[in-house]
Amino acid sequence: MDAGMTNAADKIIVALDVATKEKALELVKELRDRISFFKIGLQLYTAEGPEIVRAVLATGAKVWLDIKLYDIPNTVGRAVESANNLGVHMLTIHLSGGSEMIAAASAARANSMLLLGVTVLTSATEQTLREIGVSGKMDEQVMRLARLGVEAGIDGVVASPHEIKKLRAEFGDKIKIAVQGIRPSWAEPGDQKRFMTPREALEAGTDYIGIGRPITAHPRPSEAVEKILDELNS
Ligand code: C5P
Repeated sequence: MDAGMTNAADKIIVALDVATKEKALELVKELRDRISFFKIGLQLYTAEGPEIVRAVLATGAKVWLDIKLYDIPNTVGRAVESANNLGVHMLTIHLSGGSEMIAAASAARANSMLLLGVTVLTSATEQTLREIGVSGKMDEQVMRLARLGVEAGIDGVVASPHEIKKLRAEFGDKIKIAVQGIRPSWAEPGDQKRFMTPREALEAGTDYIGIGRPITAHPRPSEAVEKILDELNS
């Protein structure tokens, strides 16, 4: 493996969006020699709790706990402490909780855990913003929340691939960017409408690329990872 390959592999985070601990650990076992960062989201965490986090960490891999916290500042702060104690490497909160909530989360994080903020969910449209009383445009709302997050102490944001360049232009390397909604050139788009390939996302300046179904729903997930790494290094 050359150095470029190592770097590309370090940027990929595989989303363990499966229902059980057994299925999740099967995937980790199959992919662990190439992938060192896994995402545990609401489906798996609600089913299996902190045990699955400990089990993935026990393989030596890093864990992004993507449970998008949103509650009163004190509750979010205490939940961040619980995530610190679990030993996860990255955690997400909703930035629409406001500066006091974000500051409580930032103050509570420790152990060099990265705290990432979600601006507007990538499934949302301008119609969704109207429904919840936001009258501005989508990109204005994304940048407004990103600024709020950075001022209140977050380390980075979760973004749609189409927002990477704008975020880099405003915040430079001060923030980490993790994107989702990524489709390799050979994969089915599924329900992803505004996707980019992993290579396009890296070229646009993302730090991390979260990928789920193109790998996890592939008949041979390790083959999917190899194809993605080949694409990134070609
Ligand atoms: O679509 P895929 O299976 O690659 O999704 C991987 C992860 O990206 C999921 O865990 C989901 O939470 C997130 N996602 C997202 N925005 C989308 C689609 C998926 O943030 N539009």
